[in-house]
Amino acid sequence: MTKKLFIKTYGCQMNVYDTERMIDVMAPEGYEETDTPEGADLVVLNTCHIREKAAEKVYSDIGRIRKMKEEKKQSGEEMVLAVGGCVAQAEGAEIMKRAPSVDMVFGPQTYHNLPKMVQKSLSLKSDGEKSRILDTDLAVDEKFNQLSKKDVKKKPTAFLTVQEGCDKFCTFCVVPYTRGSEFSRSVDDILKDAEKLANAGVVEVTLLGQNVNAFHGISPSGQEWGLPQLICELAKIEGFERIRYTTSHPHDMTDELLAVHRDVKECMPYLHLPVQAGSDKILKAMNRTHDSASYMEIIRKLREYRPDIALSGDFIVGFPGETDEDFEQTMELVRTVKYAQAYSFKYSPRPGTPASVMDNQIEEQVKSERLSRLQALLKEQQTEFNNSVIGKTLPVLVEAPGKTDNSVFGRSPYMQAVQISIDNAGFDDLQGKIVDVLIKEGGPFNIQGILAPGK
Ligand code: 5AD
Ligand code: SF4
Repeated sequence: MTKKLFIKTYGCQMNVYDTERMIDVMAPEGYEETDTPEGADLVVLNTCHIREKAAEKVYSDIGRIRKMKEEKKQSGEEMVLAVGGCVAQAEGAEIMKRAPSVDMVFGPQTYHNLPKMVQKSLSLKSDGEKSRILDTDLAVDEKFNQLSKKDVKKKPTAFLTVQEGCDKFCTFCVVPYTRGSEFSRSVDDILKDAEKLANAGVVEVTLLGQNVNAFHGISPSGQEWGLPQLICELAKIEGFERIRYTTSHPHDMTDELLAVHRDVKECMPYLHLPVQAGSDKILKAMNRTHDSASYMEIIRKLREYRPDIALSGDFIVGFPGETDEDFEQTMELVRTVKYAQAYSFKYSPRPGTPASVMDNQIEEQVKSERLSRLQALLKEQQTEFNNSVIGKTLPVLVEAPGKTDNSVFGRSPYMQAVQISIDNAGFDDLQGKIVDVLIKEGGPFNIQGILAPGK
Protein backbone atom coordinates (compact mmCIF):
# COMPACT_ATOMS: atom_id res chain seq x y z
CA MET A 1 0.00 0.00 0.00
CA THR A 2 1.37 3.42 -0.85
CA LYS A 3 2.01 5.79 1.99
CA LYS A 4 1.86 9.54 1.89
CA LEU A 5 4.90 11.77 2.37
CA PHE A 6 4.68 15.51 2.89
CA ILE A 7 7.84 17.62 2.97
CA LYS A 8 7.85 21.34 3.71
CA THR A 9 10.97 23.07 2.44
CA TYR A 10 12.25 26.24 4.08
CA GLY A 11 15.16 28.40 2.93
CA CYS A 12 17.68 27.96 0.18
CA GLN A 13 18.03 25.96 -3.05
CA MET A 14 20.24 23.46 -1.26
CA ASN A 15 17.19 22.54 0.83
CA VAL A 16 15.05 22.26 -2.32
CA TYR A 17 17.64 19.82 -3.68
CA ASP A 18 17.75 17.89 -0.39
CA THR A 19 13.95 17.63 -0.35
CA GLU A 20 13.98 16.11 -3.84
CA ARG A 21 16.57 13.58 -2.74
CA MET A 22 14.48 12.67 0.34
CA ILE A 23 11.53 12.00 -1.96
CA ASP A 24 13.84 9.79 -4.06
CA VAL A 25 15.06 7.73 -1.07
CA MET A 26 11.56 7.22 0.29
CA ALA A 27 10.00 6.16 -3.04
CA PRO A 28 11.29 2.55 -2.92
CA GLU A 29 9.78 2.31 0.57
CA GLY A 30 6.34 2.94 -0.91
CA TYR A 31 6.08 6.64 -0.02
CA GLU A 32 4.49 9.00 -2.52
CA GLU A 33 4.67 12.76 -2.28
CA THR A 34 1.52 14.67 -1.31
CA ASP A 35 0.95 18.42 -1.14
CA THR A 36 -0.68 18.59 2.29
CA PRO A 37 0.42 17.39 5.73
CA GLU A 38 -3.16 16.42 6.55
CA GLY A 39 -3.41 12.64 6.76
CA ALA A 40 0.21 12.09 5.68
CA ASP A 41 2.07 9.07 7.06
CA LEU A 42 5.38 10.89 7.15
CA VAL A 43 5.79 14.66 7.53
CA VAL A 44 9.25 16.16 7.18
CA LEU A 45 10.03 19.79 7.92
CA ASN A 46 13.23 20.54 5.99
CA THR A 47 14.29 23.58 7.96
CA CYS A 48 16.47 26.68 7.60
CA HIS A 49 18.46 28.31 10.40
CA ILE A 50 19.93 31.25 8.53
CA ARG A 51 17.78 33.93 10.16
CA GLU A 52 15.73 33.90 13.36
CA LYS A 53 12.35 34.21 11.61
CA ALA A 54 12.91 31.06 9.57
CA ALA A 55 13.82 29.07 12.68
CA GLU A 56 10.84 30.31 14.71
CA LYS A 57 8.41 29.33 11.97
CA VAL A 58 9.39 25.70 12.48
CA TYR A 59 8.04 25.59 16.03
CA SER A 60 4.71 27.10 15.00
CA ASP A 61 4.45 24.58 12.15
CA ILE A 62 5.20 21.73 14.56
CA GLY A 63 2.29 22.93 16.70
CA ARG A 64 -0.07 22.91 13.72
CA ILE A 65 1.00 19.46 12.54
CA ARG A 66 0.82 18.02 16.06
CA LYS A 67 -2.98 18.46 15.91
CA MET A 68 -3.17 16.59 12.59
CA LYS A 69 -1.02 13.87 14.09
CA GLU A 70 -3.38 13.52 17.05
CA GLU A 71 -6.40 13.31 14.74
CA LYS A 72 -4.73 10.58 12.71
CA LYS A 73 -3.91 8.67 15.90
CA GLN A 74 -7.57 8.83 16.94
CA SER A 75 -8.47 7.01 13.76
CA GLY A 76 -5.91 4.35 14.68
CA GLU A 77 -3.10 5.43 12.33
CA GLU A 78 0.41 6.73 12.92
CA MET A 79 1.99 9.87 11.51
CA VAL A 80 5.76 10.15 11.82
CA LEU A 81 6.78 13.77 12.32
CA ALA A 82 10.39 14.53 11.43
CA VAL A 83 12.43 17.70 11.57
CA GLY A 84 15.40 17.80 9.19
CA GLY A 85 17.73 20.45 7.81
CA CYS A 86 19.71 23.18 9.51
CA VAL A 87 17.50 23.96 12.55
CA ALA A 88 17.64 20.25 13.31
CA GLN A 89 21.43 20.35 13.08
CA ALA A 90 21.77 23.41 15.27
CA GLU A 91 19.03 22.79 17.85
CA GLY A 92 18.38 19.05 17.63
CA ALA A 93 18.36 18.25 21.33
CA GLU A 94 16.27 21.34 22.09
CA ILE A 95 13.63 20.35 19.52
CA MET A 96 13.40 16.89 21.08
CA LYS A 97 12.87 18.50 24.48
CA ARG A 98 10.55 21.33 23.44
CA ALA A 99 8.39 19.36 21.03
CA PRO A 100 7.46 15.86 22.27
CA SER A 101 5.32 15.32 19.15
CA VAL A 102 8.48 15.22 17.02
CA ASP A 103 9.58 11.63 16.42
CA MET A 104 12.80 12.23 14.51
CA VAL A 105 15.39 14.95 14.22
CA PHE A 106 18.08 14.62 11.58
CA GLY A 107 20.70 16.96 10.13
CA PRO A 108 21.33 17.79 6.46
CA GLN A 109 24.06 15.16 6.15
CA THR A 110 22.10 12.14 7.35
CA TYR A 111 18.88 12.03 5.33
CA HIS A 112 20.09 9.11 3.19
CA ASN A 113 19.31 7.14 6.39
CA LEU A 114 15.69 8.30 6.33
CA PRO A 115 14.15 4.89 5.50
CA LYS A 116 15.99 3.26 8.41
CA MET A 117 15.09 6.08 10.76
CA VAL A 118 11.41 5.91 9.84
CA GLN A 119 11.36 2.16 10.33
CA LYS A 120 13.03 2.48 13.69
CA SER A 121 10.68 5.23 14.76
CA LEU A 122 7.66 3.11 13.87
CA SER A 123 8.92 0.13 15.84
CA LEU A 124 7.32 0.45 19.22
CA LYS A 125 9.37 0.57 22.37
CA SER A 126 8.48 -1.88 25.14
CA ASP A 127 6.53 0.77 27.05
CA GLY A 128 4.27 1.37 24.06
CA GLU A 129 5.87 4.67 23.08
CA LYS A 130 7.35 5.16 19.62
CA SER A 131 11.14 5.37 19.43
CA ARG A 132 12.45 8.90 19.10
CA ILE A 133 15.56 9.46 17.00
CA LEU A 134 18.23 12.15 16.85
CA ASP A 135 20.87 11.93 14.09
CA THR A 136 22.99 15.00 13.45
CA ASP A 137 26.26 13.50 12.22
CA LEU A 138 28.16 15.90 9.92
CA ALA A 139 30.10 13.49 7.64
CA VAL A 140 29.00 14.21 4.05
CA ASP A 141 30.59 11.69 1.64
CA GLU A 142 28.51 8.73 2.83
CA LYS A 143 25.35 10.66 1.98
CA PHE A 144 26.35 11.35 -1.63
CA ASN A 145 27.46 7.75 -2.17
CA GLN A 146 24.02 6.54 -1.16
CA LEU A 147 22.02 9.12 -3.05
CA SER A 148 23.77 8.72 -6.40
CA LYS A 149 22.23 5.28 -6.78
CA LYS A 150 18.74 6.72 -7.19
CA ASP A 151 16.98 7.46 -10.46
CA VAL A 152 15.88 10.97 -11.40
CA LYS A 153 12.55 12.48 -12.38
CA LYS A 154 11.81 13.98 -15.79
CA LYS A 155 12.05 17.77 -15.64
CA PRO A 156 13.79 20.32 -17.90
CA THR A 157 15.71 21.95 -15.02
CA ALA A 158 17.59 20.36 -12.17
CA PHE A 159 19.90 21.16 -9.29
CA LEU A 160 23.11 19.23 -8.92
CA THR A 161 25.05 19.56 -5.67
CA VAL A 162 28.79 19.65 -6.32
CA GLN A 163 30.02 21.09 -3.04
CA GLU A 164 28.68 21.50 0.46
CA GLY A 165 29.61 23.30 3.63
CA CYS A 166 31.74 26.35 4.19
CA ASP A 167 35.05 27.28 5.82
CA LYS A 168 34.70 31.02 5.39
CA PHE A 169 33.16 31.79 8.79
CA CYS A 170 31.54 35.10 8.00
CA THR A 171 30.85 36.37 11.51
CA PHE A 172 27.05 36.56 10.99
CA CYS A 173 26.52 33.13 9.46
CA VAL A 174 25.48 29.73 10.85
CA VAL A 175 26.28 27.71 7.72
CA PRO A 176 29.78 26.57 8.77
CA TYR A 177 28.18 25.17 11.93
CA THR A 178 25.04 23.62 10.40
CA ARG A 179 26.41 22.30 7.11
CA GLY A 180 29.90 21.58 8.36
CA SER A 181 33.24 22.25 6.70
CA GLU A 182 33.77 22.51 2.98
CA PHE A 183 33.46 19.28 1.00
CA SER A 184 33.73 18.88 -2.78
CA ARG A 185 32.33 15.81 -4.49
CA SER A 186 34.57 13.93 -6.92
CA VAL A 187 34.30 14.87 -10.59
CA ASP A 188 33.48 11.25 -11.45
CA ASP A 189 30.48 11.18 -9.11
CA ILE A 190 29.24 14.52 -10.41
CA LEU A 191 29.57 13.44 -14.05
CA LYS A 192 27.65 10.24 -13.34
CA ASP A 193 24.79 12.24 -11.83
CA ALA A 194 24.98 14.73 -14.69
CA GLU A 195 24.65 11.97 -17.31
CA LYS A 196 21.58 10.67 -15.52
CA LEU A 197 20.04 14.12 -15.56
CA ALA A 198 20.81 14.62 -19.24
CA ASN A 199 19.30 11.21 -20.07
CA ALA A 200 16.17 12.19 -18.19
CA GLY A 201 15.80 15.23 -20.45
CA VAL A 202 17.33 17.96 -18.29
CA VAL A 203 18.26 20.99 -20.40
CA GLU A 204 19.38 23.37 -17.67
CA VAL A 205 21.49 22.31 -14.72
CA THR A 206 22.28 24.52 -11.73
CA LEU A 207 25.39 23.50 -9.83
CA LEU A 208 24.83 23.97 -6.13
CA GLY A 209 27.13 24.62 -3.23
CA GLN A 210 27.18 26.95 -0.25
CA ASN A 211 30.50 28.10 -1.68
CA VAL A 212 30.19 26.65 -5.13
CA ASN A 213 33.10 28.52 -6.66
CA ALA A 214 35.43 27.09 -3.99
CA PHE A 215 34.78 23.69 -5.62
CA HIS A 216 37.94 21.58 -5.82
CA GLY A 217 36.98 18.01 -6.70
CA ILE A 218 39.28 15.15 -7.62
CA SER A 219 39.21 14.53 -11.38
CA PRO A 220 39.24 11.06 -13.00
CA SER A 221 43.01 11.41 -13.53
CA GLY A 222 43.59 12.25 -9.88
CA GLN A 223 44.18 15.99 -10.23
CA GLU A 224 42.20 18.65 -8.49
CA TRP A 225 39.68 20.45 -10.66
CA GLY A 226 38.18 23.83 -9.98
CA LEU A 227 34.72 25.00 -11.00
CA PRO A 228 35.89 26.34 -14.42
CA GLN A 229 37.12 22.90 -15.52
CA LEU A 230 34.00 21.24 -14.18
CA ILE A 231 31.72 23.63 -16.10
CA CYS A 232 33.70 23.06 -19.33
CA GLU A 233 33.34 19.29 -18.91
CA LEU A 234 29.62 19.47 -18.15
CA ALA A 235 29.08 21.72 -21.17
CA LYS A 236 30.22 18.80 -23.37
CA ILE A 237 27.31 16.63 -22.22
CA GLU A 238 24.73 16.29 -24.94
CA GLY A 239 21.44 17.86 -23.93
CA PHE A 240 22.83 20.36 -21.41
CA GLU A 241 22.19 23.68 -23.07
CA ARG A 242 22.31 25.84 -19.99
CA ILE A 243 24.58 25.75 -16.96
CA ARG A 244 24.27 27.95 -13.88
CA TYR A 245 25.99 27.84 -10.51
CA THR A 246 25.19 29.26 -7.10
CA THR A 247 26.19 30.59 -4.54
CA SER A 248 29.58 32.16 -5.15
CA HIS A 249 31.91 34.06 -2.84
CA PRO A 250 33.94 36.99 -4.24
CA HIS A 251 37.06 35.46 -2.67
CA ASP A 252 36.98 32.49 -5.08
CA MET A 253 35.90 34.38 -8.20
CA THR A 254 39.05 33.60 -10.19
CA ASP A 255 39.88 35.12 -13.55
CA GLU A 256 39.56 31.65 -15.07
CA LEU A 257 36.00 31.39 -13.79
CA LEU A 258 35.13 34.87 -15.04
CA ALA A 259 36.44 33.87 -18.47
CA VAL A 260 34.10 30.86 -18.52
CA HIS A 261 31.24 33.36 -18.87
CA ARG A 262 32.91 34.59 -22.07
CA ASP A 263 34.11 31.28 -23.50
CA VAL A 264 31.46 28.69 -22.65
CA LYS A 265 28.19 29.41 -24.38
CA GLU A 266 26.28 27.05 -22.08
CA CYS A 267 27.31 29.14 -19.06
CA MET A 268 24.40 31.55 -18.61
CA PRO A 269 24.90 35.32 -18.39
CA TYR A 270 23.71 35.55 -14.80
CA LEU A 271 25.68 35.54 -11.58
CA HIS A 272 24.58 35.61 -7.96
CA LEU A 273 27.54 37.18 -6.17
CA PRO A 274 26.71 38.35 -2.66
CA VAL A 275 28.64 41.39 -1.43
CA GLN A 276 26.65 41.82 1.84
CA ALA A 277 27.69 45.45 2.43
CA GLY A 278 29.41 48.40 0.78
CA SER A 279 31.47 49.62 3.72
CA ASP A 280 34.97 48.22 4.09
CA LYS A 281 34.79 48.58 7.87
CA ILE A 282 31.65 46.42 7.96
CA LEU A 283 33.02 43.90 5.45
CA LYS A 284 36.05 43.48 7.70
CA ALA A 285 33.87 43.02 10.79
CA MET A 286 31.90 40.44 8.79
CA ASN A 287 35.18 38.61 8.00
CA ARG A 288 34.28 38.67 4.30
CA THR A 289 37.92 38.66 3.05
CA HIS A 290 37.04 41.08 0.21
CA ASP A 291 36.55 44.83 0.23
CA SER A 292 34.27 46.94 -1.91
CA ALA A 293 37.06 47.75 -4.41
CA SER A 294 37.95 44.09 -5.02
CA TYR A 295 34.26 43.30 -5.49
CA MET A 296 33.87 46.13 -7.99
CA GLU A 297 36.94 44.90 -9.86
CA ILE A 298 35.32 41.47 -10.29
CA ILE A 299 32.18 43.13 -11.63
CA ARG A 300 34.22 45.27 -14.03
CA LYS A 301 36.07 42.26 -15.45
CA LEU A 302 32.94 40.19 -15.66
CA ARG A 303 31.24 42.89 -17.70
CA GLU A 304 34.29 43.20 -19.91
CA TYR A 305 34.11 39.44 -20.62
CA ARG A 306 30.33 39.24 -20.85
CA PRO A 307 28.80 42.71 -21.30
CA ASP A 308 25.20 41.56 -20.96
CA ILE A 309 25.68 39.65 -17.69
CA ALA A 310 22.85 40.06 -15.17
CA LEU A 311 23.98 40.44 -11.58
CA SER A 312 22.34 39.38 -8.38
CA GLY A 313 23.46 39.75 -4.77
CA ASP A 314 22.71 39.39 -1.08
CA PHE A 315 22.75 42.29 1.37
CA ILE A 316 22.61 42.54 5.13
CA VAL A 317 21.61 45.84 6.72
CA GLY A 318 22.09 46.74 10.36
CA PHE A 319 25.14 44.57 11.00
CA PRO A 320 26.61 45.48 14.44
CA GLY A 321 28.37 48.83 14.27
CA GLU A 322 26.82 49.89 10.92
CA THR A 323 26.54 53.70 10.93
CA ASP A 324 24.39 55.80 8.57
CA GLU A 325 27.53 56.46 6.60
CA ASP A 326 28.35 52.77 6.29
CA PHE A 327 24.84 52.11 5.08
CA GLU A 328 25.11 54.93 2.52
CA GLN A 329 28.16 53.11 1.13
CA THR A 330 25.99 50.04 0.55
CA MET A 331 23.45 52.21 -1.28
CA GLU A 332 26.25 53.73 -3.36
CA LEU A 333 27.65 50.33 -4.30
CA VAL A 334 24.18 49.21 -5.40
CA ARG A 335 23.78 52.34 -7.52
CA THR A 336 27.13 51.65 -9.20
CA VAL A 337 26.60 47.93 -9.87
CA LYS A 338 22.95 48.12 -11.00
CA TYR A 339 21.58 44.74 -10.01
CA ALA A 340 19.13 42.75 -12.12
CA GLN A 341 17.85 41.08 -8.97
CA ALA A 342 18.84 40.85 -5.30
CA TYR A 343 17.98 39.60 -1.83
CA SER A 344 18.29 41.82 1.23
CA PHE A 345 17.86 41.13 4.91
CA LYS A 346 17.96 42.75 8.31
CA TYR A 347 20.88 41.43 10.31
CA SER A 348 19.61 38.66 12.57
CA PRO A 349 21.86 37.60 15.47
CA ARG A 350 22.37 33.84 15.32
CA PRO A 351 23.32 31.90 18.45
CA GLY A 352 26.94 30.77 18.43
CA THR A 353 28.15 33.23 15.78
CA PRO A 354 30.74 35.91 16.65
CA ALA A 355 28.58 38.83 15.46
CA SER A 356 25.74 37.88 17.81
CA VAL A 357 27.86 38.85 20.81
CA MET A 358 29.30 42.05 19.35
CA ASP A 359 28.32 44.88 21.69
CA ASN A 360 27.29 47.47 19.09
CA GLN A 361 24.00 45.87 17.92
CA ILE A 362 21.69 48.09 15.86
CA GLU A 363 18.15 48.96 16.88
CA GLU A 364 15.36 47.12 15.11
CA GLN A 365 13.74 50.32 13.87
CA VAL A 366 16.97 51.54 12.26
CA LYS A 367 17.37 48.17 10.55
CA SER A 368 13.81 48.35 9.22
CA GLU A 369 14.27 51.86 7.83
CA ARG A 370 17.51 50.93 6.10
CA LEU A 371 16.02 47.76 4.70
CA SER A 372 13.04 49.53 3.17
CA ARG A 373 15.29 52.16 1.55
CA LEU A 374 17.58 49.49 0.13
CA GLN A 375 14.69 47.34 -1.07
CA ALA A 376 13.06 50.31 -2.82
CA LEU A 377 16.30 50.94 -4.71
CA LEU A 378 16.74 47.26 -5.61
CA LYS A 379 13.15 47.02 -6.81
CA GLU A 380 13.69 50.07 -9.00
CA GLN A 381 16.79 48.45 -10.50
CA GLN A 382 15.06 45.12 -11.04
CA THR A 383 12.18 46.87 -12.83
CA GLU A 384 14.63 48.82 -14.93
CA PHE A 385 16.47 45.65 -15.89
CA ASN A 386 13.25 43.84 -16.79
CA ASN A 387 12.02 46.81 -18.82
CA SER A 388 15.33 46.97 -20.70
CA VAL A 389 14.48 43.76 -22.58
CA ILE A 390 11.09 44.96 -23.89
CA GLY A 391 11.13 44.68 -27.67
CA LYS A 392 13.99 42.14 -27.63
CA THR A 393 13.71 38.48 -28.58
CA LEU A 394 15.10 36.21 -25.86
CA PRO A 395 15.61 32.44 -25.80
CA VAL A 396 13.36 31.15 -23.01
CA LEU A 397 13.41 27.65 -21.54
CA VAL A 398 9.81 26.53 -21.00
CA GLU A 399 9.52 24.95 -17.56
CA ALA A 400 5.91 24.86 -16.43
CA PRO A 401 2.33 25.75 -17.34
CA GLY A 402 1.64 29.48 -17.06
CA LYS A 403 -0.81 31.45 -14.94
CA THR A 404 -3.55 31.07 -17.55
CA ASP A 405 -4.63 28.27 -19.89
CA ASN A 406 -3.03 29.87 -22.91
CA SER A 407 0.32 30.73 -21.37
CA VAL A 408 3.45 28.92 -20.26
CA PHE A 409 6.20 29.81 -17.80
CA GLY A 410 9.91 29.88 -18.52
CA ARG A 411 13.20 31.60 -17.74
CA SER A 412 15.32 33.90 -19.84
CA PRO A 413 19.12 33.48 -19.89
CA TYR A 414 19.16 36.27 -17.26
CA MET A 415 16.95 34.24 -14.86
CA GLN A 416 13.93 36.46 -15.47
CA ALA A 417 10.58 34.76 -14.93
CA VAL A 418 8.78 34.93 -18.28
CA GLN A 419 5.06 34.42 -18.93
CA ILE A 420 4.61 33.47 -22.58
CA SER A 421 1.25 33.72 -24.37
CA ILE A 422 0.69 30.71 -26.59
CA ASP A 423 -2.27 30.73 -28.91
CA ASN A 424 -1.30 27.98 -31.30
CA ALA A 425 0.66 25.59 -29.11
CA GLY A 426 0.16 23.52 -25.97
CA PHE A 427 2.37 23.23 -22.91
CA ASP A 428 3.18 19.62 -23.76
CA ASP A 429 4.65 20.68 -27.12
CA LEU A 430 6.83 23.30 -25.52
CA GLN A 431 7.96 21.87 -22.18
CA GLY A 432 11.75 21.57 -22.03
CA LYS A 433 12.24 23.50 -25.25
CA ILE A 434 14.12 26.75 -25.61
CA VAL A 435 11.86 29.03 -27.61
CA ASP A 436 12.41 32.53 -28.96
CA VAL A 437 10.15 34.96 -27.17
CA LEU A 438 9.45 38.53 -28.17
CA ILE A 439 9.19 40.47 -24.91
CA LYS A 440 6.19 42.78 -24.81
CA GLU A 441 5.96 43.84 -21.17
CA GLY A 442 8.32 44.31 -18.23
CA GLY A 443 7.70 44.95 -14.54
CA PRO A 444 9.32 44.35 -11.17
CA PHE A 445 8.74 40.61 -10.82
CA ASN A 446 8.25 38.99 -14.19
CA ILE A 447 8.14 39.81 -17.87
CA GLN A 448 5.63 38.85 -20.54
CA GLY A 449 6.01 37.96 -24.19
CA ILE A 450 4.76 36.02 -27.19
CA LEU A 451 6.39 33.31 -29.28
CA ALA A 452 8.53 35.23 -31.75
CA PRO A 453 6.83 35.34 -35.17
CA GLY A 454 8.29 33.05 -37.81
CA LYS A 455 10.21 30.90 -35.32
N1 5AD B 1 21.29 37.77 9.33
C1 5AD B 1 20.78 38.25 8.17
N2 5AD B 1 21.07 37.72 6.98
C2 5AD B 1 21.90 36.66 6.95
N3 5AD B 1 22.37 35.93 5.93
C3 5AD B 1 23.15 34.96 6.42
N4 5AD B 1 23.21 35.05 7.77
C4 5AD B 1 22.43 36.10 8.12
C5 5AD B 1 22.11 36.71 9.35
N5 5AD B 1 22.61 36.26 10.50
C6 5AD B 1 22.06 36.22 4.54
C7 5AD B 1 23.35 36.57 3.77
C8 5AD B 1 23.57 35.33 2.95
C9 5AD B 1 22.14 34.86 2.71
C10 5AD B 1 21.99 33.46 2.29
O1 5AD B 1 21.50 35.08 3.93
O2 5AD B 1 23.08 37.68 2.95
O3 5AD B 1 24.28 35.58 1.75
FE1 SF4 C 1 27.86 31.84 5.36
FE2 SF4 C 1 29.89 33.38 4.62
FE3 SF4 C 1 30.01 30.73 4.22
FE4 SF4 C 1 28.34 32.24 2.74
S1 SF4 C 1 30.58 32.36 2.77
S2 SF4 C 1 27.86 30.28 3.75
S3 SF4 C 1 27.69 33.79 4.22
S4 SF4 C 1 29.97 31.76 6.20
